[in-house]
Amino acid sequence: MAKKQDKKHADSASDKAILDFGKAQNYTPAPESTGHIRLKKQYELFINGTWVKPSKGVYFDSVSPSTEQVLARVAEAGAEDVDKAVKAARKAYTEVWSKMPARERGKYIFRIARIIQERARELAVIESMDGGKPIRESRDVDVPLAANHFFYYAGWADKLEYAFPGKTPESLGVAGQIIPWNFPLLMAAWKIAPALACGNTVVLKPAETTSLTALKLAEIIEESGLPAGVVNIVTGAGATGAAIVNHPDIDKIAFTGSTEVGKIIQKAIAGTGKKLTLELGGKAANIIFEDAALDQAVEGIVNGIFFNQGHVCCAGSRLFVQEGVAEKVIRKLTDRMASLIVGDPLDKNTDVGAINSAEQLKKIQEYLKIGVAEGAEIYQPTCSIPTKGNFCKPTLFLHASQSHRIVQEEIFGPVLAIQTFRTVEEVIEKANNTPYGLSAGVWTDKGSKIFNLTSKLKAGVVWANTYNKFDPTAPFGGYRESGFGREGGLHGLLPYLKLS
Ligand code: NAI
Ligand code: MG
Repeated sequence: MAKKQDKKHADSASDKAILDFGKAQNYTPAPESTGHIRLKKQYELFINGTWVKPSKGVYFDSVSPSTEQVLARVAEAGAEDVDKAVKAARKAYTEVWSKMPARERGKYIFRIARIIQERARELAVIESMDGGKPIRESRDVDVPLAANHFFYYAGWADKLEYAFPGKTPESLGVAGQIIPWNFPLLMAAWKIAPALACGNTVVLKPAETTSLTALKLAEIIEESGLPAGVVNIVTGAGATGAAIVNHPDIDKIAFTGSTEVGKIIQKAIAGTGKKLTLELGGKAANIIFEDAALDQAVEGIVNGIFFNQGHVCCAGSRLFVQEGVAEKVIRKLTDRMASLIVGDPLDKNTDVGAINSAEQLKKIQEYLKIGVAEGAEIYQPTCSIPTKGNFCKPTLFLHASQSHRIVQEEIFGPVLAIQTFRTVEEVIEKANNTPYGLSAGVWTDKGSKIFNLTSKLKAGVVWANTYNKFDPTAPFGGYRESGFGREGGLHGLLPYLKLS
């Protein structure tokens, strides 16, 4: 009898759970433990295979954007330190790495990939602590993709002549690489793996708000036995980045970040003979046609803009919905947004984590005000957000128009601007009406529409009936103000080679 009652109780509890599904507050917190995380109090610079104190003795704090706790102190590299790193990279290039048989180089890159896999959990937790992204993403997206990039490019190391038949590929020398805070470990992998596979040595600088996984990667590189100086990791802010860009003994600069800094870098290296790739901002259009599978499309739109708090250069920040389904799509979208969980990045239930920095949160909040002042209608779910840390509710702007700043400018936050359209020609024109050209998404049941749009949308990547899917074998990059050059795939080898 007692058992039966228990069962009844259980049934009603699960009924209740089903009825209330979608109300974030009903989930029991499921935080990932941090007990296994080993962080040093203070990190030095990783130069020539060892940890070196910064010459000026300056350090800065790496702060968790969700708890506001200082996680570690990180060294700030000055121009002298960057010079040391470049000298170490040059020496390693001429004396060791460029002379090593390609298959041997490949073995080191494979080893780095395997250690990333072994230490995946630790890396994922640190990524979420330091950068604010939900653990589900760092665990399922960032870290596995980072390992896969090393695996993929390790495979190319001794096959470069097959990648470019009839050509002789040669390494460039020393690559200076500057990365942003939205995918800290993954961007390091995107940059380091192809550079090494092509026989170059590296000086890499992570973003100042997210140095920790790059420093963990330095530990992994140390553990892999990679010869000293082949990869050097220097931490610091814009001035450290500028010291890399302006160093005379660097052969190639690879940068991912803001269009503003991309332009400064382009000017700085003009006429120096340094090779350059830039991966800059975006303002991607996601386009839903009347014949699309709407539930699937709504899920993709949500993933496209709220994934990683919208800190994604290819985030689907503009939504175009065909008129006939606009009402339905907006209702489904607002329903889905009401079920998103905003909060602790380390909680496995969290959908939207912390905004990376107070500065970025301020920028997003300013755009929310701008959108309202421009006359768009704002929608935010009633969910609660933590009072401590940098958090922003997922936000929708209805009745946005082409001239609005929220439609034209990159916000880099969980903010979606919606417009409607009637015809294919109209939506192509509207979607292309931006200075950017990084990515786009098309949702339709018709293959012919997909092919028509993919050839007419000015975007480096066009996803069809999916969004934000990455694979090491697929090249990624944009044009116009989104930058130039490709990362990933066979194309991703080109920026690190001379072909003759
Ligand atoms: P940022 O472009 O200033 O920072 C990116 C990297 O460049 C960091 O490592 C930074 O230390 C370095 N850097 C800064 N100034 C430099 C200089 N003069 N020379 C060399 N390196 C320099 O981006 P920030 O200020 O963090 O974010 C501003 C906006 O940029 C964001 O709101 C977003 O719109 C956009 N952004 C785009 C990214 C993308 O993936 N395309 C990534 C990060 C930001
Ligand atoms: Mg900046």
